[in-house]
Amino acid sequence: MKIAISGKGGVGKTTIMALLTGELRRQGREVLIIDADPSPHMAETLGIKNAGEVRPIAEMTKLLAERAGKSEGSPFYNLNPDVNDLLRDFMIDYEGIRLMVLGAVQVAEGGCACPENHVLRKMLKKMLLTAQEVVLLDMEAGVEHLGRGTVAGVDQLLIVVIPSRSSIRTALKIKQMADDVKIPRVLFVGNLVQDEEDRQFLIDSLGEAPVAFFPDSSTIRRAERAETAIIDIEEGLEDAPNQLLQAVNAK
Ligand SMILES: Nc1ncnc2c1ncn2[C@@H]1O[C@H](COP(=O)(O)OP(=O)(O)O)[C@@H](O)[C@H]1O
Ligand SMILES: [Mg+2]
Repeated sequence: MKIAISGKGGVGKTTIMALLTGELRRQGREVLIIDADPSPHMAETLGIKNAGEVRPIAEMTKLLAERAGKSEGSPFYNLNPDVNDLLRDFMIDYEGIRLMVLGAVQVAEGGCACPENHVLRKMLKKMLLTAQEVVLLDMEAGVEHLGRGTVAGVDQLLIVVIPSRSSIRTALKIKQMADDVKIPRVLFVGNLVQDEEDRQFLIDSLGEAPVAFFPDSSTIRRAERAETAIIDIEEGLEDAPNQLLQAVNAK
């Protein structure tokens, strides 16, 4: 299963992806997270202390682009025997969660981080996963990756949306682009939902119900300020993480 997450900046993509990681891990799944945000902070959200040690994928752009041409059916990030060892150097393992970071992207002329996105696209396409393995792709805000077709290799796209008009507008635009690049499954996920009015606003504006509604959580805000992991937070989230898990598993 390869799942990407998108949505307007600051709507809670990284937070929700970390909570989903917690659910998947409790279910015994193996999770590889690729943090493709130019200012990555997934590691902190997961409580990974030695995040500074992870070498960004951007560093291996050339090397990988050369080598990732051909691969046969081996599991997970095993692109091919040559690349496998290479990838391990760009990955940290923390309590059974593997993390890769795309890194500070060198934006080329015309605003395109082309080499990095090319590598990312190749990795997503080539990774062959067992049923137990899940790849989660945390992205920068907005629709850029979709525009470049980077996420065309994912099975599911989660679009995080909060009850605001601008967040809805971005979400619908992303949904349209996701359909254009033929991502098989696109799911909306509500965040910062306070009451029934918020829920109804999301359902009416999106034209469909989000698969889960995450409440505004003081536990999350407290954890963020204290810089502690939010991955294991379960209380005060109204079963939303579990509902999201059920939805992504319902394929
Ligand atoms: N459900 C929530 N309740 C409380 N705070 C939240 C919630 N979701 C996200 N946040 C906070 O909002 C901020 C932005 O969240 P983040 O996940 O980094 O967004 P994004 O990855 O979309 O930019 C963070 O400070 C985070 O702790
Ligand atoms: Mg983020």
